[in-house]
Amino acid sequence: MTDTNAAGGWKDKPLFTPGPLTTSRTVKQAMLRDLGSRDFEFIRTIREIRQELLALGGDTEGEYEAIPMQGSGTFAIESVVSSTIPPNGKLLVLVNGAYGHRIAKMASVLKIACAVLEFPEDSTPDLGAVKSALDADGAITHVAVVSCETTTGIFNPIREIGALVKQAGRVYFVDAMSGFGAVPINLAECGIDYLVSSANKCIEGVPGFGFAIARREALEETEGYARSLSLDLFSQWKGLESNGQFRFTPPTHAIVAFRQALRELTEEGGVEGRAARYRANHETILAGMREMGFKEYLKPELQGYIITSFLYPRDPKFSFEEFYRRLNDKGYVIYPGKVSNADCFRIGHIGRLFVSDMRDLLRAVRETVEELGVKL
Ligand SMILES: Cc1ncc(COP(=O)(O)O)c(C=O)c1O
Repeated sequence: MTDTNAAGGWKDKPLFTPGPLTTSRTVKQAMLRDLGSRDFEFIRTIREIRQELLALGGDTEGEYEAIPMQGSGTFAIESVVSSTIPPNGKLLVLVNGAYGHRIAKMASVLKIACAVLEFPEDSTPDLGAVKSALDADGAITHVAVVSCETTTGIFNPIREIGALVKQAGRVYFVDAMSGFGAVPINLAECGIDYLVSSANKCIEGVPGFGFAIARREALEETEGYARSLSLDLFSQWKGLESNGQFRFTPPTHAIVAFRQALRELTEEGGVEGRAARYRANHETILAGMREMGFKEYLKPELQGYIITSFLYPRDPKFSFEEFYRRLNDKGYVIYPGKVSNADCFRIGHIGRLFVSDMRDLLRAVRETVEELGVKL
């Protein structure tokens, strides 16, 4: 496959980040339209997108509803947290990174009762502890976990956690922001009631909206629970069902770009095809960085292929700011770390990036290390 972004010689700096991400030229070109929110073509596009998202989640039985929500991914998460938990409900959040903490913060801002079960950032949630927490606290109605914790790049065992949550008869919410579309997730098999991701992650659309995929039976029970007008998931769903439209100004350009991004995902072989490219990106970066002497933060068996955290070299000559700036000057954008107990930086493997981009980045990293005189 060719790097469509490079075609025409107008490639921007590749973004080796968790988002915003590099998108294809054709996805960007799809936005050169001004469609009205009631335009029949636009309404058809929303309908197709909603159907295709369900197919990506393996909803063969027609049990789920896909609901796009304006804003960044956080808005879609907040729409689920704020409008699916009853007034007397209680949320348990399994936390092993910054995005888990963010869900708990939302509950606190929204004054929703919340318990946090926290695990080290370099390990997955302990299933025995999850089971004990559910057994011990009958007030817990909902459980939330992040699928790929982008803080580190760890993949959490959402299927095993889902089995425990379902056994305990609770509602299960998965933040699958950074992996959905490139990490196979079967909603029903994982026992998921609500899943959230956004347009500009592995589906490679442009930023502007996120989406929730909700089990219809669970969603139907949530009428009147919303604590926000604009983020009301139930009303957004009802609006889309009644006239096919968003309730408020839709992100028209981002939606038509997303339609194109979904076509390109299919052309690449769907979730499996995209996973293969991202895995190849990841393996290329890992091999090249290890060869130079960099070390990853996570144990290899916990590391996913979305984003990798690398430890700062011990050499005091290493300054991340200087490393970042020099890479940026060479045309490569990496990302600072977010891990709380170790100095790390991150390299993302997602977006319209290919093994050739990874090799270019590795060359630039090697040059920069040499320029800085850092010993690895
Ligand atoms: C797992 C996870 N959750 C939530 C978010 C927040 O998404 P956004 O920055 O689009 O609001 C991100 C962003 O990278 C993420 O990786």
